[in-house]
Amino acid sequence: MATFTLRLRRYDPESGGPPYWDEHTVELDSHRSVLEGILQAKGRFDGSIGIRCSCRAAICGSCGVRINGQPGLACHTHLDDALASAADGVIEVEPMGNMPVIKDLIVDMDAVHWKKIQEITPWLINREPIPEREYLVPRDAMVDVTQSMACIQCGACVSDCLAMEVDSQFVGPAALAKAYRFVGDPRDAEPFERLRHLAENPDGMYSCTHCFKCVDACPKGVNPMGQIMRLRRIANDDYDIEDRNNGYRHEHAFVKNIRRNGLLHEADLLPDSYGGKFHPRAVPELLSSLPVVIRGLLRRKITPAKALLHPHKASKEVRAIFDHVESEPKRYELNLYVSGDDKDNEPAGAVAEGAKQ
Ligand code: FES
Repeated sequence: MATFTLRLRRYDPESGGPPYWDEHTVELDSHRSVLEGILQAKGRFDGSIGIRCSCRAAICGSCGVRINGQPGLACHTHLDDALASAADGVIEVEPMGNMPVIKDLIVDMDAVHWKKIQEITPWLINREPIPEREYLVPRDAMVDVTQSMACIQCGACVSDCLAMEVDSQFVGPAALAKAYRFVGDPRDAEPFERLRHLAENPDGMYSCTHCFKCVDACPKGVNPMGQIMRLRRIANDDYDIEDRNNGYRHEHAFVKNIRRNGLLHEADLLPDSYGGKFHPRAVPELLSSLPVVIRGLLRRKITPAKALLHPHKASKEVRAIFDHVESEPKRYELNLYVSGDDKDNEPAGAVAEGAKQ
């Protein structure tokens, strides 16, 4: 048995007072969870501590909190691990971010998380005709959506999403990962409509800024950002959805830019994303970016010569990578959630036999 001090972020809207920190010392084996620590503090010292939990086994997703500043499941974080990441020997527990706090560690999931999930039509739209018995789906197709199906809707990715922090309308990582679960499912009848909606939505799939926060936050390895990139690739490459938000053109301009320069040449990226320097669509964008350009020049972050005469050209190795990828007849999606190879499915004898050869 060891002692652990928990510093809990408390907030009671009915009191009218501001949030405050509250410390309690609990006694538990070190492999027990932070949730058990909080429940002990609640049982022994203060029954008014607000925490939501149900399964206590990392399945229901209801105990999402921030522990020492990182989002995670309280029931899935051992006290000794939490102590190791504590700055001052005290385990700090706060409510998740990007969602309004109802009380103490309980956030309003309906106001943000579930509202976003509802936006993406979170159910399968059956392909017709509906078979008399079950749909037969290729194994690879189901493996492909397994990763997004592993989501337990805990909201950890929403809590840490930097794009949602500045744009509360952004559909967000959890809902977009859920959208991929249906777009990638061959039984769904409307992947094009789903993708078009998310591409045309100004707060849809192109609002992700690739910060990787959701990837780190997810306790189930769902890799929400990876699912968002898949949505974009399918919308771009398979359906050619040219959206009004310029996501399609921006992605193509980005690839072209790297293929040509090897490194990103930012001065070309903006005009290329809008059809080229002299395209009527590009002119207002270029004019609106002038204050940024002037600031960059004044602070010597760029020089006119570098911006206009970018000397860097892609090496032949970079061009070879592009040639190789583009010559592939089919895009290969790597699902990192499923590991191992086909040998794992072979009978033990067959693998051993293969190893001898
Ligand atoms: Fe269910 Fe933690 S209590 S995930």
